[in-house]
Amino acid sequence: MTTRVRGGKYVVQGGVTLRGAVNISGAKNHALAAMCAALLTDEDVILTNVPYISDVDSLGELLVSLGVVVDRLPGGSVRLNASRVNVFEAPTELISENRASFQVMGPLLARHGFASSAPPGGDVIGQRPIDVHLAGFEAMGATITRDGERFVSRAPQAGLTGTRVFMDYPSVSGTQNVMMAATLAHGRTTIVNAATEPEVQELAVLLNAMGARITGIGSQMLEVEGVSRLHGATGRVMPDRIETGTWAIAAVMTGGDLVLRDAPLGVLDALVHKLRATGAHVEESEGGLRVTAGGPIRAVSFQALPYPGLATDLHAPFAALLTQANGVSIIHERVFDNRMLYVSELRKMGAEIVSTGSSAIVSGPTLLHGTRVRALDVRAGAAVLLAAIVAQGTTIIDDVYHLDRGYEHLDEKLRALGVELERL
Ligand code: EPU
Repeated sequence: MTTRVRGGKYVVQGGVTLRGAVNISGAKNHALAAMCAALLTDEDVILTNVPYISDVDSLGELLVSLGVVVDRLPGGSVRLNASRVNVFEAPTELISENRASFQVMGPLLARHGFASSAPPGGDVIGQRPIDVHLAGFEAMGATITRDGERFVSRAPQAGLTGTRVFMDYPSVSGTQNVMMAATLAHGRTTIVNAATEPEVQELAVLLNAMGARITGIGSQMLEVEGVSRLHGATGRVMPDRIETGTWAIAAVMTGGDLVLRDAPLGVLDALVHKLRATGAHVEESEGGLRVTAGGPIRAVSFQALPYPGLATDLHAPFAALLTQANGVSIIHERVFDNRMLYVSELRKMGAEIVSTGSSAIVSGPTLLHGTRVRALDVRAGAAVLLAAIVAQGTTIIDDVYHLDRGYEHLDEKLRALGVELERL
């Protein structure tokens, strides 16, 4: 695992048209959940296609602190072994590094009957409660108490019991956490109003490969038949649909032409639909996706929604694209209540964009110019990076460590496509 460094700057020379091919890396949010799943067994879980990103590193450190052996193997694989887990209290400084870290709770509770953690960290993109995670554990018989800021959860002596769990919101990590806990509960758990995001589906597939009995995968009603133990397994991390979307948007925004190798074709409907609405050409090619700009970009409006709607994680990058579109586009954010931080940064670069509450109105096309901006979270960072690539002149982006959290080998990929960029 590598060391994470906060801060970091990109100096980007704008005015580049992106042409060529990009290899899409493994999905951050699948890799993180899958790493937590390793806590459910004392045998090896081997994950392939795990991206080299700092969120994987920080979650790896957290797992090591609990007693998990985490080995990076050559070629992008990670071997995890949780046979010697002996710490059930997640260290607060590591829990606060990212949101996925709270997903150690469900597995620890199910397998060891006890888990304690502070609320998780992650991007500041709105209220990020964990009530549906905790309500799910409680429904299965756990007691939750507070110890200062920490949540302490205990299973009854006989373990968790399967039941019907209604998710008040179809939370992605909440569904994953409760589903993992349910794999080792006595009897059947039905998760009603489950999140259907591909990363949730892929986690269920991995759990089944480990011996779990989950059906209804991909639906809003998951059935989990508890088993007494899970065993080791090998699973491939799916390609990252948000990275795919970011490069696809970059191709259109720069008037370019990119082949996105290994793009997860089956889960991109909303993205492809909206890109085509801007006038872009999108087609399958070489086992991936080819995205080609199609002349003047048309304004389009969209809502950021739970899957299969357009992903909230593509909201900010898509907004950057719409600064180059002809006309007025209206965006409504329906998942998080504070995803508009990117607006002020794009405005510094000349974008005509205003936000009210969770909506934004973008007027275009505008000539963006280089200036000094900040990456305020991983996706807001992607938005300013895309803007910097089309802007006139030089853009300095501060705090690019946020981009390291979710985009593997970003500097190399950009340079390979002809972007002049320096990292300070
Ligand atoms: N929510 C609740 N109660 C809960 C949990 C969530 O009301 O107990 C609400 C939140 O307030 C929010 C909405 O549910 O409005 C969505 O939150 P969710 O729990 O689904 O998101 P998450 O699990 O915290 C994951 C991804 C995010 C991605 C969202 C939505 C991980 C580690 N993170 O977060 O990814 O935006 O799902 O798809 O899986 C990113 O990659 O940049 C990122 C932020």
